[in-house]
Amino acid sequence: MIETVDTLPALRARISEWKRAGLRIGLVPTMGNLHAGHFSLVEAVRQRVDRVVASVFVNPTQFGPNEDFARYPRTPEQDARGLEAAGCDLLWLPSVEAMYPLGLHNTVTVRVPGITEILDGAHRPGHFDGVATVVSRLFNQVQPDVAAFGRKDYQQLAVIAHLVADLAFPVELLPVEIARDTDGLALSSRNQYLDADARARAPALGAALRALRESMRAGADVDAATGAAKATLRQAGFEVDYVEVHAPDLSPFVEGQGAAVALAAARLGATRLIDNLEFSLDGSPTAR
Ligand code: PAF
Repeated sequence: MIETVDTLPALRARISEWKRAGLRIGLVPTMGNLHAGHFSLVEAVRQRVDRVVASVFVNPTQFGPNEDFARYPRTPEQDARGLEAAGCDLLWLPSVEAMYPLGLHNTVTVRVPGITEILDGAHRPGHFDGVATVVSRLFNQVQPDVAAFGRKDYQQLAVIAHLVADLAFPVELLPVEIARDTDGLALSSRNQYLDADARARAPALGAALRALRESMRAGADVDAATGAAKATLRQAGFEVDYVEVHAPDLSPFVEGQGAAVALAAARLGATRLIDNLEFSLDGSPTAR
């Protein structure tokens, strides 16, 4: 069974031993209920380091009061087996007390300005403060050389890149491609909330973004393209939080720019799905 630690001293002991031996350490931060998307992060980071640590922590500070913290799926045994099979070396499984030792109401909060106020940040107030806060703690606890994050959470990745650059965390970020089901639905732990009817409708989210890309490539402006995507999603039964087009760094998109990212968040019943698509408009490869 994969080695599991649930106290900071135990984690530090193992990390110090590896550092003393000159080993490079990779981190895959997760909230558990792991799927192929998470395992692809482990596999990607493994290529670059000597030891891989995965954290599993359902972080209360990144959930709003009416969100799904209490019912967020928790599958610790299954996660441990999957991580071991994916080649992970250590599972960091902190309690809320280990992560927030001075108490949840007494915690130092890390806040990234600007970029956290748009898109998901506008619809989930405080969400990215919780993410930046817990990721800062994970970086301090694990002291990774490399940390992998999925591109599905495009804005989260941008927030963490800002955090790393501004606070000078000595970690290299490794963005990993979105893992999708055969019908194109981006893998997410929240997909399991979908009943059969909603699951059948869900791939429409990614399809709407691909149609948006094609309409912009055919000359539609952003308002027309996003308006059509929202209408399609509403017809498919979604309640739309946003469909927006930005420059790849999430600054406002200016008509005539050659590269863009389309991002969407929409609900099927109580389940909120997000997806994004990076694309070029001038035939050049996307920035990465
Ligand atoms: O992407 C996630 O699963 C979470 O936001 C993260 C990065 C593990 C922080 O809790």
